[in-house]
Formats: sequence, C-alpha cells, structure tokens
Amino acid sequence: MAFQQNAQHFGNYVMQRPLIGQISGVPLDKKTCDTWSDIWKFQAHSEDILVAAFPKSGITWMQEIIDMIDQEGDVEKCHRAPTYDRHPFLEVVAPKPVPSGLQLAESMEPPRILKTHLPAQLLPPSFWDQDCKVIYVARNAKDCMVSYYHFQRMNKGLPDPGNWENYFSTFLTGKVFWGSWFDHVIGWWRAKDQHQVLYIFYEDMIENPKQEIQKVMRYMGKEFSEEVLEKIYHHTSFQAMKENPMANYSTIPSFVMDHSISPFMRKGVVGDWKNHFTVFQDEIFEREYKRRMEGTDLIFRTQL
Ligand code: A3P
Repeated sequence: MAFQQNAQHFGNYVMQRPLIGQISGVPLDKKTCDTWSDIWKFQAHSEDILVAAFPKSGITWMQEIIDMIDQEGDVEKCHRAPTYDRHPFLEVVAPKPVPSGLQLAESMEPPRILKTHLPAQLLPPSFWDQDCKVIYVARNAKDCMVSYYHFQRMNKGLPDPGNWENYFSTFLTGKVFWGSWFDHVIGWWRAKDQHQVLYIFYEDMIENPKQEIQKVMRYMGKEFSEEVLEKIYHHTSFQAMKENPMANYSTIPSFVMDHSISPFMRKGVVGDWKNHFTVFQDEIFEREYKRRMEGTDLIFRTQL
C-alpha cells in the first residue's frame, strides 16, 4: 500500500520515493543508512578538497567554480562530464545513472573534489585526520526552505514534500533529509575554528561573485590573470549554468528529476521566500530563528 502511494508511474517505469532512515538522529535516505559503516570508514587523501553544504545552498554553483579553478579556466575540460560524475557525492546511493558516491570516489585518483551534504558531526573522520581543505556554502534558511521544497517536488530521489504549509514545519523541525538547517550551519561554523574550512555565503556570491571566486581561488592556492577570472565568472553565471547540460542536471532521466515540475536551475536569487511565506509563517519562523541562533555570531542576510 505504502509502495503504491509513493510510486510515480512513467510509462512502464516506476520510481519509488526513498525510505527514510536515521543516523544519530539525522534523517537520511535509508540506502545511505544501510551503507553507513562504509561511508564512515571512507579514506580521504590529504590533497582532496571537500565541498559541503546543506541542500539547496548553492553547492552545484560552488562545484562549477571549483572545477573551473582546478581546470585553470578551461571550459572544455569542465564540459567533460555532468557535475555528479566529476565530483563524487560521498553519501549518495542513487538510482542509475548516478553512481554511488563511494564507488565513484574510490575509482578516482586523489586529489579529488568530493561533495557532501553531511552535517559536520557526521563527516567521516579521515577528512579531519588528513586535514583536508573544506569549502562550505551556507544560504539563508528561508530561501533554502523554498528551494528545497521545489527540489523535493521535482526530484523523486527525495521524499514527497507534501504541501507548502506542511513542508514549512517539516523543514523548521529538521525532519528533511540531512536534518536541521540550524544544526548544519552552526556545526560547520564551529568546525572552522578547529579545521581548514572556508565558509562562504550564497548571498555574498550573488552580491559579488568575482570577490567570492577570488577567495576560493586563493584558498585553493591558485592565482590567475583577470582574463581567466572573467572566464570563470561567465561560465558559472546563473544563465550559463542553466544552459549548460553538464551543470543543470538535465542529463538525469525525467522519471527521477522532472524539470517540468520545477527546473533544477530555478531562480537563483536572494529573497524568493517572500513569494512563499505568509505573514504568519514569517512570525513563526522569526521566533524559532531567534531561539535557535541565540549565542552564535553567525549572521545571514535574507535580502540584499
Ligand atoms: P533556487 O531553487 O532558489 O533557484 P544546490 O546546488 O545546493 O542544490 O542549490 C541549488 C540552488 O542554487 C538553486 O536555487 C539554484 O537555482 C541555485 N544556483 C545554482 N547555480 C547558480 C548560479 N550560478 N547562480 C545563482 N544561483 C545558482
């Protein structure tokens, strides 16, 4: 019965929404939980770079920037494969053609660029032991919530989000995959005091992309001419990525990601929450935000 309720039919193909598991209280895809002991034992190499973020914070944008830096501004090299094949997504155990993150990572020679949505407390310890460089992207919770809602609608690899009203509390109480936005951004904010973590804000990337690209470049130990910087900036703009099949997830079959429901490259702005939040929801959100963020010096902008 549950199967029938969850199932979406595409011709002869049936794609089932994932089952929900938990690791240390953090909701994750059950397939990830089932392979958790292998994920936890993952061996990072000291030269690997990890890009981390709560879902829908702009990680794909950062991956494209990092790849362009790594490939020294060579657009053709960045077109070699879709994002998910270039950078293993550590904890993902996805339906084909997306390979399991572990398999893909282990098939690559270090140094690798690896992706994760894991909160800091669940990061496999070898990343800390090897003192890997981490680039963390954080986005304000209101826009994250809206973006994640639309992403869960279009991506059958995630639980059905239900209606917006219900989703609002699901997100706020941390019952989405990868858990609480609050725990995530605060956990990684603290991690940067003890480890190599470059903490970047999506809102800063929107406001001044070249400045943020330069921060990442310097962190990766690279220095380029103005001309290369310009190339990276253009190749990673919202419009360029929206039109780039290697960056816009259009290569994933539509029975998994249905871009006609909501495109992966949806709006790419700060403040879209205003088109979704009711006045009442905003009041509830602000109360919870104040309570959860008390005592941190972490500041987010919800408009520019
Ligand atoms: P919206 O749904 O608000 O449009 P992630 O890659 O972490 O899943 O995040 C996806 C979000 O980042 C989406 O937000 C997407 O549009 C936005 N995004 C991706 N590339 C971008 C770019 N080059 N410029 C601005 N926003 C971008």
